[in-house]
Amino acid sequence: MPLVIAVDGPAAAGKGTLARRLAAALGLPYLDTGLLYRATGRRVLGHGADPRDPAAAEAAARGLTPADLARADLRGPEADMAASAVAAIPVVRTALLDWQRDFGRRHGAVLDGRDIGTVVFPEAPVKLFVTASPEERARRRFLELRARGAAADPAQVLAELQARDEQDSRRAVAPLVPAADAAVLDTTALDAEAAFAAAMAVITERLREVSPLA
Ligand code: CDP
Ligand code: CDP
Repeated sequence: MPLVIAVDGPAAAGKGTLARRLAAALGLPYLDTGLLYRATGRRVLGHGADPRDPAAAEAAARGLTPADLARADLRGPEADMAASAVAAIPVVRTALLDWQRDFGRRHGAVLDGRDIGTVVFPEAPVKLFVTASPEERARRRFLELRARGAAADPAQVLAELQARDEQDSRRAVAPLVPAADAAVLDTTALDAEAAFAAAMAVITERLREVSPLA
């Protein structure tokens, strides 16, 4: 199978920033799997339904189109919580699984999410679990919101981020947890550049282990 790199971790840890850079450096396609859950949550809200409703959420996941993934309203507190709500529903996760696997198997990929190393690609040779302290992650998310011109209160950003992490960690199916063979990268004191360098060092080492002649 072509090279698949799993990048998992909690909210605003810098998964997307890192995964996008790794994909560019390694010449691999990149998939932000959070977008699938965000778009599903948005579709449910758009139909006036409850994101916790399994039937409505499954229908929304099965009906996703490229246009849904390109919507401008997939970020922000409402979209965050709707994504996390639909993501806790097993039939939603099943509906999105094959699509993610097909994407990775076609040409290899860097995928970021919560369950890439545990469920979507448990056989991936390289798994990174990117994290940072809740305060640092909230600071990063706050700065992003402010840069987008969105009104944000730092304490509220932290509270919502922790509530979502808890919901994602406690769910019965595909909870947020590092794979047993993931390299944990704590970026609390690292900027994006340093996190990239640390991740590349892990990847080089892992690939040497699985293919000693490389
Ligand atoms: O995908 P995830 O929600 O984990 O994070 P992101 O969308 O990549 O956003 C992380 C934010 O923190 C971005 O604004 C980055 O510039 C910044 N950042 C980072 O990604 N990595 C660091 N080590 C430090 C800051
Ligand atoms: O960027 P951020 O880390 O805040 O969120 P995201 O990666 O876009 O994911 C949004 C939500 O989708 C998460 O809070 C999870 O509930 C869900 N998700 C998931 O369950 N599994 C994935 N592979 C990716 C996202």
